[in-house]
Amino acid sequence: MISRVAFALMTLALALAATASVAQVQSPSPFSSNPFRFTHQDGEAIYRNVCAGCHMPDGRGASGAGAYPALARNAKLEAAGYPVLLVVNGQKAMPAFGRVLDDNQVAAVVNYIRANLGNAYTDRVSTDDVKAARQ
Ligand code: HEC
Repeated sequence: MISRVAFALMTLALALAATASVAQVQSPSPFSSNPFRFTHQDGEAIYRNVCAGCHMPDGRGASGAGAYPALARNAKLEAAGYPVLLVVNGQKAMPAFGRVLDDNQVAAVVNYIRANLGNAYTDRVSTDDVKAARQ
């Protein structure tokens, strides 16, 4: 469990480092030339590759080298704006993914966690909701 978390952190560190160096080159879009951008478009695939390392594949969360809250059966996901904000901007030990995931990808992964992992919130988040959460 700890090594999975360590792996997720390493992947993330690489992605963030890549984002930082791309930003210095003054790319017109933060995404267009980032070679470390996650390419998956499907919410479940993004969850498995980006989120599951900390929140676990079934969303039950983890504790060990930190506390990773369960996303499974999580009533805080009812208000769609909350997970959107968290994914885009991060919060405490939750990293911000706004620079490595585009609007479609954020919407896809938020729609995935809200309608799966024991959650059944079927109103969909749109790319406009994600745009509004970017600061
Ligand atoms: C590096 C580990 C890590 C990764 C990767 C990660 N998270 Fe988190 N996440 C956290 C931590 C730690 C918190 C608790 C933040 C806090 O203390 O406020 C959290 C909190 C959350 C919450 C709020 C849960 C609650 O009950 O308040 C949501 C929603 C969430 N994460 C979604 C995601 C999604 C979706 C992804 C993938 C795009 C993701 N996380 C990737 C560590 C991570």
